[in-house]
Amino acid sequence: MSPRANWSYPTAIRFGAGRISELAEACLTAGIKLPLLVTDRGLASLPITQQALDILDAAGLGRAMFSDVDPNPNEKNLAAGIAAFKAGGHDGVIAFGGGSGLDLGKLIAFQAGQTRPVWDFEDIGDWWTRADAKAIAPIIAVPTTAGTGSEVGRAGVLTNSDTHVKKIIFHPKLLPAITICDPELTVGMPRIITVGTGMDAFAHCLEAYSSPFYHPMSQGIALEGMRLVKDNLPLVVADGSNIAARAEMMSAAAMGAVAFQKGLGAIHALSHPIGAVYNTHHGMTNAVVMPPVLKLNRPEIEERIARAADYMGIAGGFDGFYDFVLKLRADLGVPDKLAALGVGRDRIDEMTAMALEDPSAGGNPVKMTPENTKALFEACI
Ligand SMILES: NC(=O)c1ccc[n+]([C@@H]2O[C@H](COP(=O)([O-])OP(=O)(O)OC[C@H]3O[C@@H](n4cnc5c(N)ncnc54)[C@H](O)[C@@H]3O)[C@@H](O)[C@H]2O)c1
Ligand SMILES: [Fe+2]
Repeated sequence: MSPRANWSYPTAIRFGAGRISELAEACLTAGIKLPLLVTDRGLASLPITQQALDILDAAGLGRAMFSDVDPNPNEKNLAAGIAAFKAGGHDGVIAFGGGSGLDLGKLIAFQAGQTRPVWDFEDIGDWWTRADAKAIAPIIAVPTTAGTGSEVGRAGVLTNSDTHVKKIIFHPKLLPAITICDPELTVGMPRIITVGTGMDAFAHCLEAYSSPFYHPMSQGIALEGMRLVKDNLPLVVADGSNIAARAEMMSAAAMGAVAFQKGLGAIHALSHPIGAVYNTHHGMTNAVVMPPVLKLNRPEIEERIARAADYMGIAGGFDGFYDFVLKLRADLGVPDKLAALGVGRDRIDEMTAMALEDPSAGGNPVKMTPENTKALFEACI
């Protein structure tokens, strides 16, 4: 049996296999009468997406979809989505997909009623207070991958298509009103996406757990999230239709996003510029850079990681944990170096500068400097 539950933390979550059937009712509960389902191009034609539209249609909510969404969505996708939202007279968004569809859907609901440009709401200081909160349309989130946790997050990542920099747009009301976590939707993920997104969830938990800030709640959630990935990611990669394990991965993904309120670190600080410059998959990139970052941080996190290893049933303290990460990656077919993802050495200086500017850099246990960051890129490529 796979788990089924209703949670109210950090938002209303309907968790369990088959619960996509509640999509129309969730819209009505959130006050949405004419939803726009936002997803990416790849998902648009898949049966899970058509099924979601059928559910809306049968309840008289139409079957409007916007799917002009790139893998690392940008402000052009956002503008086109807002135009579709307005042209259709929609009153809410169903953000449906992996992080790309979820983030762009959330940002359409957020930005459609704003007068300032979206970049004015970057996650810097209290810039979010610049937004007109009343103009934000309600959001229902339906994840189809188990990784980013955007379905329970208060941010959306948007790539600037001129500068290729990924910006985090933040507002408390970017948190979806209702989230439907249906593990059956993740069964059809290509293997490489199952691996990449699963490692993203692991990276969120690991970096949150390792960050130096005081946040015991997040610390606890991150620890259990890591255990769930350790025990279940190999199972779903071996058998994609293992619904119980898919459900645990879906929980781990949501837990990672809740936990990383405590902070992220160098894994994400490196992965953001690499993704922006080379359009690599976010989670897969995280998995490749993870071991060199662990090595860099060792002096600050050795004892803490040893405690995590104990909890996760890994012998050997920090070294055991490090070896576990290497073995997990190898078993899942994650490449050892970034070169295998098409990343070259020619833009290391530029990416080093971008990594140091990235908001995640501040959460790294060892202070990131131009020297150690460049050395990290060298080691990873
Ligand atoms: N908001 C956040 O807090 C946050 C956190 C981490 C990452 N992100 C962002 O999320 C994005 C990455 O998201 P992702 O890793 O989920 O990948 P994705 O959304 O880009 O999807 C990857 C591919 O998998 C396909 N796919 C997704 N679900 C599927 C399914 N069930 N069956 C078959 N194919 C499926 C998609 O069509 C796409 O081609 C990046 O843009 C990243 O910046 C956001
Ligand atoms: Fe991530």
